[in-house]
Amino acid sequence: MQIFIDSADAAELKALAETGLVDGVTTNPSLIAKAGRDFFETLREICAAVPGPVSAEVVAQDYETMIAEGHKLRTVAENIVVKVPLTRDGLRACKTLEEEGHPCNVTLCFSAVQALLAAKAGATFISPFLGRLDDGGQDGMGLIREIRMIYDNYDYQTQILAASIRSGAHVRDAAIAGADCATIPPAVFKALYKHNLTDSGLEAFLKDWKATGQKIL
Ligand code: G3P
Repeated sequence: MQIFIDSADAAELKALAETGLVDGVTTNPSLIAKAGRDFFETLREICAAVPGPVSAEVVAQDYETMIAEGHKLRTVAENIVVKVPLTRDGLRACKTLEEEGHPCNVTLCFSAVQALLAAKAGATFISPFLGRLDDGGQDGMGLIREIRMIYDNYDYQTQILAASIRSGAHVRDAAIAGADCATIPPAVFKALYKHNLTDSGLEAFLKDWKATGQKIL
């Protein structure tokens, strides 16, 4: 499963990319607002730090302006993916942009039939929002399973990008459900490699090694 980071903090993304485990980045207008910096400068820095797909979202609601915004976003860097909302105009813009060779990530997906339409529009990525469904008492992971079945039934190549991830358990369950990618907030990513038994086990190994009085280097 590909690991994307859900953030627009260019400095933090650069540090996380040093792990060699980051395959891409997703941003959205709220994350850009939180970062508090110039949109295009931020995107350029992120695209330079992470060589994989970097989603940048249009803010227009109508087809024509979405296309124009998509074209402009794609001039920022080769690895920009145009993020469009799952609306009538967003799906139409996705189809046009994909036919022109511009990869799209269709975002704000909350149902399997929405995901079916995104695949029919030729989307490179579909972003089902797990956490927000769970928040509303619905089954976010169930949605991932449904989309996986539908895409496999018809051999759609659209990649399932599990979004609105809130925990390591979400990452695990999305991987089990067959999501192609998960976009993970930095804090959740940093928690993925932590385990208390790893920490206590390492502490015991180092104590025992020290007692031998030996060195490797
Ligand atoms: O970037 C889209 C998505 O991951 C947002 O997540 O936590 O705002 O529901 P959240």
